[in-house]
Amino acid sequence: MDPIGEIVAYEQAALAAIAAAADAAALEAARVEFVGRKHGRLRDLQALLGKVDPAQRPAVGKQFNEAKTKVEAALEARQKELTRPKAVAGGLDLTLPGTPVRLGKKHPLVQTMDELKDIMGRFGFSVAEGPEIEDEWHNFEALNIPEDHPARDPLDNFYLAAASVAAANAGLAPVSTGQTESTRPVLLRTQTSTVQIRVMEQQKPPVRVVSLGRVYRPDTIDASHLCVFHQMEGLMVDRGVTMAQLKTVIRMLFSSYLEHDVSIRFRPSFFPFTEPSVEVDIPWGDDWMEIGGAGMVDPHVLSAVGYDSDEFTGFAFGLGVERLCMKRHGITDIRRFYENDVRFLRQF
Ligand code: DAH
Repeated sequence: MDPIGEIVAYEQAALAAIAAAADAAALEAARVEFVGRKHGRLRDLQALLGKVDPAQRPAVGKQFNEAKTKVEAALEARQKELTRPKAVAGGLDLTLPGTPVRLGKKHPLVQTMDELKDIMGRFGFSVAEGPEIEDEWHNFEALNIPEDHPARDPLDNFYLAAASVAAANAGLAPVSTGQTESTRPVLLRTQTSTVQIRVMEQQKPPVRVVSLGRVYRPDTIDASHLCVFHQMEGLMVDRGVTMAQLKTVIRMLFSSYLEHDVSIRFRPSFFPFTEPSVEVDIPWGDDWMEIGGAGMVDPHVLSAVGYDSDEFTGFAFGLGVERLCMKRHGITDIRRFYENDVRFLRQF
């Protein structure tokens, strides 16, 4: 008797039968014949092993186990092959992995503005909107920035060719004497403070609003400046509104948005529409970063919109949205927001 020869013959016959099985039924027949528990040839082979000379047993046992493993693996592989759906005419292979659909999401700045609105909403502030193309009344005059003020220098503003924007003028203040709809100067707003005026023109105190949106300035572009950026304006007018409340609101806003308590620095400053005025700084590395301006609404501004400045006081603030978002996420260059590099955008 040549047990090794028997095993090799068994293995070859089994593999050939498995490879030749053209459908599930043929494969099942091969399975029963070669590895079936009751009458399979593997069982016969095993019976044979019992009779092998003890000295030969380890080698024969090893050969037997290898053959068994191979045949079982071949059965399984053929089974998979036979059950895989066939490519249909036209070459559509249903077994190929699909093409993943990557869903877009909101830009980090939009996410930031949504969050800021939520937080301010919890403090009782509603959201107001104003146009990006403004007249001089809302961008300057009513904010106590007179005609000869340097902030109105054409080099510091994006004035628009008046004739081309006559169509966009809906919602602007009435033309003043000596102007027509097509000669009145209009500009891209430089600050969201314009919306303070628009809100107060429409609404009597108490007022509690925020307004978020784009502003435009011909600044030199660098890691913390762009010609277009976003601000969040806040305005609260009522009887007895104080600077302490302003400070508290800004502090609570920052710690909510940044998710931890943060030092803020108020630096005395000047804005024509607030008195007193401050600039607001937050820690930036070893230094401070200016994040916006704020102050108590100047009585002239309240009078310009017909509020009684003896009865009402208010605070206002204007904050840079990009810089807040940069602080929270450790972004060191403001230009990243506008490059539309998906490797950057996907992280938010
Ligand atoms: N509008 C100012 C700017 O863009 C920021 C600002 C300062 C807004 C003081 C305010 C304020 O509402 O009260 O530089």
